[in-house]
Amino acid sequence: MDRRILPAGNIIGGVRLPGDKSISHRYAMLGAIAEGETAIRNYAPGADCASTLGCLEELGVKVSRRAVKAATGETLEELALAGRGLRGLQPPSSTLDAGNSGSTIRMLSGLLAGHPFRSVITGDESLQRRPMRRIIDPLEKMGARIEARPGDLPPLTIHGARLRAIRYPTPVASAQVKSAVLLAGLLAEGETTVEEPVATRDHTEIALAQFGAELRRGWRQATVCGGRPLRGQKLEVPGDISSAAFFLCAALLFPGSNLMLQGVGVNPTRTALLDFLTGMGAKIKVLNIGEAGGEMVGDIHVTGGALSGGKIEGEQVAGLIDEIPVLAVLATQTADGLVLRDARELRIKETDRIATIAENLRRMGAQVEVHPDGLDIPGRQSLRGAELDSFGDHRIAMAFAVAALVAKGEALLHNSEAAVVSFPSFFDQLEKVAER
Ligand code: S3P
Repeated sequence: MDRRILPAGNIIGGVRLPGDKSISHRYAMLGAIAEGETAIRNYAPGADCASTLGCLEELGVKVSRRAVKAATGETLEELALAGRGLRGLQPPSSTLDAGNSGSTIRMLSGLLAGHPFRSVITGDESLQRRPMRRIIDPLEKMGARIEARPGDLPPLTIHGARLRAIRYPTPVASAQVKSAVLLAGLLAEGETTVEEPVATRDHTEIALAQFGAELRRGWRQATVCGGRPLRGQKLEVPGDISSAAFFLCAALLFPGSNLMLQGVGVNPTRTALLDFLTGMGAKIKVLNIGEAGGEMVGDIHVTGGALSGGKIEGEQVAGLIDEIPVLAVLATQTADGLVLRDARELRIKETDRIATIAENLRRMGAQVEVHPDGLDIPGRQSLRGAELDSFGDHRIAMAFAVAALVAKGEALLHNSEAAVVSFPSFFDQLEKVAER
């Protein structure tokens, strides 16, 4: 769908963020193999987390939705999953469809590997271009057999087995890989340890502890003990900080912005964005910090103001990986721009994000230098309204909707509907807070 986006002024008010996508996937998958019911509030509304639920239903998990009254008197929707217990998933009668979701295919493969049946899992065109060797290797070491298309691409045919525990140093900094191995570890004989080259988001570890798994954590490593039953939980998913990023950066484009984002997940493995922005001079405060299901939650307040520039490289990249598209947009409006390196992983996301960021910025008349593992984006650039494209990537759609706010003249965003993958109400909410 094509969407016209007009230039805007300050970003003022508040935004209701969707539930965190990463946490939602994990709660649903753990709820599916727990004993008893798991009830989840504020489950992420996007297509990716719906893909996880669709796959779980196909594996025999009963999923229902009900209206409940919150403490505030508000009526909320609660998702309920009837847990099937460890190794209790049923053989699917058709191919599992992970849609656009890398987290679904990679993490669910961990669970499928530990069930003694054959399953086939695939996804949309974009997902079928994403490499799966990173999960095939450890899951085969644990005893499963996985067939893929040439190039280690989906569809994956997973021949599940009785798994053995392993110690696995992940060669890539990926929370999806770490999680796939830990989930498989729950179904394995003995203690499975994952070691990471760089600390990545730890939602799986936190959720495992919440569901009663036997888990030990160390420096860049986690160990889970297989064969211990999990208990169903009542959980509330915090707002998604990666979705908040689009609004924070939109606000930072204009000096008079004043925006409050309530109930956002501020797990320290996800807040590199806030550190990076404050490092450039952004005025950001995290208020009312609390906790939900072991996850930190807070309100984020931001006001507009001039920013310097920054560099993202090395170990910083993993912590900012999903926010780089919108940071690249923001960089054009800073004094010194952005230097991005060591970010090859961006090339194998929903799109080759190094290429799709550069393409859209150039269409807007910006200068960008492309490197195999990053970008150089000078600051103080003026952007013009142009024909932009999401290329089917939700974060590119939202990042360039933000860019359009600061452009001269109207922009046209092709394939804007890609935003539904993580944030179905994104455009409505953006309209609500953009001053015109
Ligand atoms: C995610 C991990 C990241 C991230 C993705 C969600 C997760 O992927 O980009 O959006 O929920 O674990 P990688 O683990 O491949 O870096």
